[in-house]
Amino acid sequence: MNFEIGKNLLDKTSADVALVFAFESKKSYKLTPAVDVLDLALKKSITNGLDFENFAGKDAEVFSTFTNNVIVPKKIAVVGLGKKEELTPHKLRQTVAKFARSLNKKVNSVSVALLDDVKISHPEQVQMIAEGFLTGSYRFSEYLKKEKTERELEAVIFTGVAAKEKKETEERFAFVQMVYGAVKLARDLINEPGMKVTPEVLSKQARDIAKSSPQISVQVYNRAQCEKMGMGAFLGVARGSEQEPQFVHLTYKPKSTRNKRKLAIVGKAITFDTGGLSLKPSKYMVNMKLDMSGAAAILGLFSIITKLQPEFEVMGIFAATPNVISANAYTPDDVLRAMNGKTIEIINTDAEGRVTLADSLSYAVKQGATEIVDLATLTGAMIMALGEDYTGLFGNNEKFKQEILAAYKKSGEKVWEMPLPQEYKQHNKSEIADVANLASNMWGGAITAALFLEEFVDETPWVHLDIAGPAFAEHNNELSPKGGTGHGVSTLVYLVKGDLK
Ligand code: BES
Ligand code: ZN
Ligand code: ZN
Repeated sequence: MNFEIGKNLLDKTSADVALVFAFESKKSYKLTPAVDVLDLALKKSITNGLDFENFAGKDAEVFSTFTNNVIVPKKIAVVGLGKKEELTPHKLRQTVAKFARSLNKKVNSVSVALLDDVKISHPEQVQMIAEGFLTGSYRFSEYLKKEKTERELEAVIFTGVAAKEKKETEERFAFVQMVYGAVKLARDLINEPGMKVTPEVLSKQARDIAKSSPQISVQVYNRAQCEKMGMGAFLGVARGSEQEPQFVHLTYKPKSTRNKRKLAIVGKAITFDTGGLSLKPSKYMVNMKLDMSGAAAILGLFSIITKLQPEFEVMGIFAATPNVISANAYTPDDVLRAMNGKTIEIINTDAEGRVTLADSLSYAVKQGATEIVDLATLTGAMIMALGEDYTGLFGNNEKFKQEILAAYKKSGEKVWEMPLPQEYKQHNKSEIADVANLASNMWGGAITAALFLEEFVDETPWVHLDIAGPAFAEHNNELSPKGGTGHGVSTLVYLVKGDLK
């Protein structure tokens, strides 16, 4: 998909569909000036049509009509944005994403008139609209014979960009394309079945990324090497599978060594979660290819990190294995020893994420991380608490929590802070080991899981993001079709780079 700055007004811009916006107002709808112009040219067939259809300008409401060659675009689509005072950048992006998804596959090009007289600047509108088109048009069509042959939307042409806005607009085009490339990589990795995206496929991906730049290096440890490092927790989970477990450590180094910060980003990387011997019921096993979404976000970020050029070192760390069954699989009552020496009593083999993360976090600490943020599709309880769209944020350090929350605010991805009450730690106690992998009570499962992770970060400032809900859309949602969403990629971009325009 290409983005272009149109040279003409909308009625003279060649495109299959001209997209214009309308707002909801007290009595009915309120058209933007761009629509008025078209309506005049089309002898009121837009307003007549809107009235006939009782169009109200509500969020994502769409009215479309053919122009019968009276003006250059073939079709006009009027899209509602709700109340003008309530318009936010994210709402604009969301509305466009939904519109993009609804477009007929025959549509090759769309022109769009930017809004005047709203609080969002033209370049920011361009960014939101462009992101909306890309994220909304994503399809995972690898296995669909039909879709593969269908065309994608080729061009989006923006009209109303002033000469002095041109440079910034073009920068935004490039930024949006770059971030979307990373999101798409994450989505594709998640959407591929676990039997295809094996631990070795994930480590190969990391190796390929490292090959692309001298600023990125990667170390990959196999079963024997993990054993040497004392990763008994990760290897416990990996025992049931014949696939070679892969512990991946990506490093991005800045050009200057002045900044001593060393940020570790840790991801859960279970390529498929059957639950292990504590087997998941069939209904709950479906979609468990999503369980490597944390690692997918890391790979997405690293695929563009040299374009971002953060000023400090960034480590991407994940322990990849499926959680499956064989005669060799780890069992309830097992006691595993993590890399930091702590022992873990296994109560439930389906609480495997925290067990693999125990070693990933210990490793990050040992590598001298100055801060650790982890992304993990960790608990169903998180989805119970916040629903499908929100990530739960936990942490042991106020300043670092605020930094991550600020990055979330910039990306527009949804997050909600959760408590980390030390008095709940007692629920993770084990009689025979330092900690149990399942809480003894049934409440607040996302919190007790987070408290378990805290056992492995020492005093390092740490934030845990339970992305179990937003990592995977069970149905088409605002910004993505059903499947992996790439949640976290955009937030990580803003985290390592702050404001990038
Ligand atoms: N991968 C799951 C968590 C999950 C569930 C992610 C649904 C996305 C959607 C995790 O490994 C798991 O199975 N958690 C169990 C923990 C329980 C055994 C304490 C859960 O949430 O049921
Ligand atoms: Zn599980
Ligand atoms: Zn899992």
